Amino acid sequence: MGMSVAPFFFYVLAIAFLGVFCSRGLESVQAGEAGFDVRQHLSSSTRYEWGKSLMAGYEDPGNVPVGCTPIHINLVARHGTRGPTKKRIKELEKLAKRLHEVAAQAGNTAPAWMRDWRSPWEGKKVGGELLPIGEEEMYYLAQRYRNNYTEIFEDDYHPETYPIITTQVGRSSASAVAFGIGSFAGRGTLGPGKQRAFAVVSDSKGNDIHLRFHDTCMAYKQSKKYRMPAVEKLQAEVYELVAKAVKERLGLAVTAEDVSSLWLLCKNEASLLDIVDRACGLFTPEEIELLEWADDLQMHHLKGYGETLNYRMGVPLLEDVVQSMDRAMATLKDSNSETATEKARLRFAHAETVIPFICLLGLFLDDVDVKSIQSEEPFQAPPRPPKHRVWRGAMVAPFGANTALVLHKCSLDSGTGEEFLVQALHNEKSVSMPGCNGTHFCPIEVFKKHVVAPHLKRSFESLCTVAVEHQPPERQSWFHRLFVPFYLFRWPGKPAHAQSICQSELEL
Ligand SMILES: *[C@@H]1O[C@H](CO)[C@@H](O)[C@H](O)[C@H]1NC(C)=O
Ligand SMILES: *[C@@H]1O[C@H](CO)[C@@H](O)[C@H](O)[C@H]1NC(C)=O
Repeated sequence: MGMSVAPFFFYVLAIAFLGVFCSRGLESVQAGEAGFDVRQHLSSSTRYEWGKSLMAGYEDPGNVPVGCTPIHINLVARHGTRGPTKKRIKELEKLAKRLHEVAAQAGNTAPAWMRDWRSPWEGKKVGGELLPIGEEEMYYLAQRYRNNYTEIFEDDYHPETYPIITTQVGRSSASAVAFGIGSFAGRGTLGPGKQRAFAVVSDSKGNDIHLRFHDTCMAYKQSKKYRMPAVEKLQAEVYELVAKAVKERLGLAVTAEDVSSLWLLCKNEASLLDIVDRACGLFTPEEIELLEWADDLQMHHLKGYGETLNYRMGVPLLEDVVQSMDRAMATLKDSNSETATEKARLRFAHAETVIPFICLLGLFLDDVDVKSIQSEEPFQAPPRPPKHRVWRGAMVAPFGANTALVLHKCSLDSGTGEEFLVQALHNEKSVSMPGCNGTHFCPIEVFKKHVVAPHLKRSFESLCTVAVEHQPPERQSWFHRLFVPFYLFRWPGKPAHAQSICQSELEL
């Protein structure tokens, strides 16, 4: 049970911590802390430019070794900035009513905007679409890749040279198109921009195990459902804490639920409309950091390192990446080869795709422990602010987040031979992989052995098949009321579907 102990202690500590220290540090806070910009603290709702700015000074990549040329890029990108989804639009409409009540109750002390506030998205019947700002993120991202990797993007367009792959979700496929326009503008004959038409392909929604495994891996969906209440409890504790502080400071009778919706509003106003003095203005920087942390915790537990299945299920994507590298090397080595030379494999998907991919590569880890990466154990949850943490949603998975593996061909000093090095970029910045001993340029053999191979021990099927699926939602057992994390009751070494059965048996 070794693997389960650390996260469990975390839960106990976190709950105790929030309980005991709940009044600590929140009263004496004033806004205007030097350099604090809420737009860099919106977790996965952060716009790309702000998320990218956080990568500055993250690591010093050093220079590309002499004699190396990039020959292939594997890209995994999240869609660009999008509008709020339908569910969130509804939530914000409800919030309007609540804010009027809160403002009326507070009288003159209520902020003026609150009294007659209406959601900017009121009455919208569709949501979640890629916004113009999101199109621009993808377009200019493509142009930077193209300018920095001229060797990769210099060929004539062909769908086998530059496959563009997306999920069947509008904002992702629109992101793929915006990236394609940026990549091939000026290379065709269409219109004044000399556009080139390009192909965008996807797996069907129900079978997409390469980019939508969060939706096709049944064991994950089940495990997420079981783990969700415990995570929501952690978040609710933060909202409670912040509600109390806001009430004391501003005299506004907000509930934890209101704070949750106001945080949603703050994220959308700041990220999409650059409004930072309304909903966001109700919170101090310290409170915003707590709210951000609550989002990041959820990301850790349900999408990231918090549970191995979260990223193990990304194995088909990892295999696809390695196979495309193998093909690129094989065609280079054999000049008579019949296969087309693929130069870049460009994928457009979701936070639920990029985050697991990052975890498979071992990026963004505190106190890097290569052994635990290779044994795929869950890691410590990100520490509560003001403690520093590496795992920040704003940096890991803002809108437009992109992780690329660049394959370099390098001639060896000794003369004839050549070697292939893999470099990881996150949001365009070179990052080291712990499995590669913290280096930025990792020999392909080391990459395969220490980064990839440990994850290939299990197949998608063995991880994701759910043999028995029954969970009466009304019957909340003692097990759930205690908010014990699901994986405490896992049997290490058993495949996920067997564990799901154990869980069901415990239930009934
Ligand atoms: C391209 O180079 C610019 C300038 O050095 C840099 O800011 C940007 O992050 C790079 N982007 C990529 C995709 O390499
Ligand atoms: C990893 O790096 C350390 C320190 O630079 C070095 O001593 C060690 O030999 C390296 N290990 C491998 C496998 O390259």
